[in-house]
Amino acid sequence: MCIRDSPGLATVGTNHPHGVGEHAALVELAKTLSADVVVVGPEQPLVDGLADTMREAGIDVFGPSAAAARLEASKAESKSFMAAHGIPTARHVTVSSLEDGLAAVRTFAVPPVVKADGLAAGKGVTVAQTYDEADAALRDCLEGGAFGDAGATVVLEQRLEGQEVSFFVISDGTNAATMLPAQDHKRIGEGDTGPNTGGMGAYVPAPIFTEAVHDKTMARIVRPTLEGLRSEGRPFVGVLFVGLMIDEASDPWVIEYNVRFGDPEAQPLMLGLQAALGETLQAAVSGNLREGRLTGAPAASVVLASAGYPASSHKGDRISGLADANEIRGVTVFHAGTRRAADGDCETAGGRVLGVCATAGVLTDALHNAYAAVEAIRFDGMQFRRDIGRRATVV
Ligand SMILES: Nc1ncnc2c1ncn2[C@@H]1O[C@H](COP(=O)(O)OP(=O)(O)OP(=O)(O)O)[C@@H](O)[C@H]1O
Ligand SMILES: [Mg+2]
Repeated sequence: MCIRDSPGLATVGTNHPHGVGEHAALVELAKTLSADVVVVGPEQPLVDGLADTMREAGIDVFGPSAAAARLEASKAESKSFMAAHGIPTARHVTVSSLEDGLAAVRTFAVPPVVKADGLAAGKGVTVAQTYDEADAALRDCLEGGAFGDAGATVVLEQRLEGQEVSFFVISDGTNAATMLPAQDHKRIGEGDTGPNTGGMGAYVPAPIFTEAVHDKTMARIVRPTLEGLRSEGRPFVGVLFVGLMIDEASDPWVIEYNVRFGDPEAQPLMLGLQAALGETLQAAVSGNLREGRLTGAPAASVVLASAGYPASSHKGDRISGLADANEIRGVTVFHAGTRRAADGDCETAGGRVLGVCATAGVLTDALHNAYAAVEAIRFDGMQFRRDIGRRATVV
């Protein structure tokens, strides 16, 4: 059962439409339904304390407390947390005045990454190519109010080089169960060109994340993070999504923490998962999570975006071919920006519309089948990348 009214969710469960901000009503709903476990999906209600409210009401809830969710709520606080616990991350300076910010920009050997401190729906980060661009991003936050309060404090960060990996770890506060390492494709254009998006596709596993990198990540990042939070009286119960940069020496650095699953990576992870998800979530909630790795098959997701995305996005385009696509071996089409048209058909609702996902014994087969499913689907202005997973399959 779910609380978001979407044509995709309607195919797998019953909708009980509610806003994520309606905490009291959600507590009542969980009680009425006698929910075994409530999973709080998005970051905003976690940051706003929905998991705490549920827990206080005696409901089993998978998701961190507001205190633990600070790791995502404030990039400045998360940098201080990493410094306090010796967790490797890029050098940074936190500023809240334009004067301090402009002075700090030039102290970086290459133009720094500029990050709004608070939640900005994935739009608060500028990977500046020039110092002037960094200055402009600072002005947008501190003078232009581009992100409101979320941009009233800004983190300037040294730019890291390497390959990014998204690493998801389920925890009961103490033990960690890891998922396969994922890679996504952030740019709109093939060959990683054009503006950043919320992600145009993803695949698991990421070959760069070798056993050695896994071990370093656990020892230097995951364990100190979970222990650090525990020692500060805010144990992490939920899924910690660590955004990593793996450098040339195969050393992992934290780019960011998220305190939830995130797309597009979660789609191939879920589709390929070979562990019992419900039992794992319940074990995490009850503090009995078995330490180890959740195994999974290779899988990939190709995002179909609406016309104009990411600068703008078109709505109301009729989608055809979903049933045919879902017939293809190993394929599941996840809905992101879809809605029901008046006649009951499915149409686009803007942004990233669908995640066309496939799983198979090897990644090349998963990609092949995902792209066969993409060929079956049509809507006006449909945009997608043809090179998802190439980095993992080209030798
Ligand atoms: N220090 C850095 N060096 C290089 N690239 C970076 C750095 N920090 C951020 N980036 C790039 O910017 C992207 C977004 O940064 P970050 O993950 O901190 O922001 P976010 O808005 O919280 O993202 P998300 O919506 O995925 O949670 C990263 O995935 C990475 O591509
Ligand atoms: Mg984030």
